[in-house]
Amino acid sequence: MSKSAAEFDIVVWGATGFTGRLVAEYLARTQEAHRAKWALAGRDLGKLEEVRRGLATQVPSCAELPLLKADAKDAASLDALVSRTKVVCTTVGPYARYGTELVAACARSGTDYCDLTGEVQWMRRMIDAHHDEARATGARIVHTCGFDSIPSDLGVLMMQEHMREKHGGHLRSVRLYMGPMRGGASGGTVASALQAVEEGEKDRSVRRILVNPHALDPDPKQPRNPAEKDLMSVRYSQELGQWTGPFVMAAVNTRVVRRSHALLGYPWGRDFIYSEVASYGAGAKGLARATSMTAGLGGFFVALQVKPLRKLLESKVLPAPGQGPSAEAREKGFFVAQLLGEGVSPRTGREVRLKGKVAAKGDPGYAATARMLSESALSLAFDSVPTSGGVLTPASCMGMRLVERLRRAGMTFEVQEQAS
Ligand SMILES: NC(=O)c1ccc[n+]([C@@H]2O[C@H](COP(=O)([O-])OP(=O)(O)OC[C@H]3O[C@@H](n4cnc5c(N)ncnc54)[C@H](OP(=O)(O)O)[C@@H]3O)[C@@H](O)[C@H]2O)c1
Repeated sequence: MSKSAAEFDIVVWGATGFTGRLVAEYLARTQEAHRAKWALAGRDLGKLEEVRRGLATQVPSCAELPLLKADAKDAASLDALVSRTKVVCTTVGPYARYGTELVAACARSGTDYCDLTGEVQWMRRMIDAHHDEARATGARIVHTCGFDSIPSDLGVLMMQEHMREKHGGHLRSVRLYMGPMRGGASGGTVASALQAVEEGEKDRSVRRILVNPHALDPDPKQPRNPAEKDLMSVRYSQELGQWTGPFVMAAVNTRVVRRSHALLGYPWGRDFIYSEVASYGAGAKGLARATSMTAGLGGFFVALQVKPLRKLLESKVLPAPGQGPSAEAREKGFFVAQLLGEGVSPRTGREVRLKGKVAAKGDPGYAATARMLSESALSLAFDSVPTSGGVLTPASCMGMRLVERLRRAGMTFEVQEQAS
């Protein structure tokens, strides 16, 4: 069936989960503007009915939303699901555990797809197994449409597009400083992190993928540039005037930005350098925060490697699947990412320095993520973007159309010129 003849524009699979409910709420509030035909999907119709009842108290027309049953363990139910929609928007994770058959079904049938995975080892498997088939069928499979990795991926694209439009060239390097930010974690995210640790423990090739800066490039065997090594310690940034440390999502986001660059055909030069760190402020206070956060992060990852400690954290400390930050905490959350980049203008021969900002109100991993994933699904369903199929990234697929959408949805994406 052609995409335009599909019964639904968007199906949200995983609508009963913590993040899936937030995505359904976002779409319920905004879909009227699009007149989107959409449906809720999951493995349990009773739970889906409860979600639909909750939505209908906010938006009465949601009482009519169709409910579709599909289980990750039942490939036929997934084939039936994807055959009825233009776009599947999935929050069923850990994706490495539950997501493979859905990607396969979308690639086979030419159905567009977006998700929230940050599981690099799984994305590598999806690229190897389905990129060529998705190109042939026209399915646009877009991973990482949440806090990882939209601010990074679209932030870099925005900086490079500004440079191209105003100066006719590209930036030779961009650095992203994440912070300040405030946010929590859900059970699903914790389960996904644990999944990667467990897979890495069992399989050396997974460990190699997780430390490869080009793990998601079409050809992951790229020569390594020392400047692309993820920061592992506390360091003072002269250009920002702040203390910095490792950013927990850099090992995902930097790989996604590099894949975007490769899929776009290396428009920023083969020697383009991108890096990402967390920023903690200036002076003694900034140093103290950078030191304690870096030590805490290191300790957490060491604990995850030790099986008994990992089990203890899982059962006693970390949120279980279905749990996550409260509505009040989600409301108080926010993030600000600053991007600095430089290149030479081919028009004047002069050095150009750009400063960018990507920011949003609301917990980055949940409130802001629900907005980013929903707008990604709407973009796939309604924006005319000249992309063919494949296992893609937000920047290489929806690109600046998604930046414009997210701006309209209240996110900040801005670029300023700096004195050289
Ligand atoms: N990138 C980001 O910024 C970001 C942010 C948030 C979340 N995430 C990711 O999103 C995913 C979901 O997180 P979450 O906290 O929302 O998880 P969650 O609350 O545990 O929800 C998981 C969902 O998967 C469904 N599910 C589980 N097994 C299934 C099966 N066999 N067939 C069909 N559905 C099944 C669950 O259905 P039931 O309700 O029936 O159990 C539920 O709807 C995780 O992978 C997480 O890492 C990423």
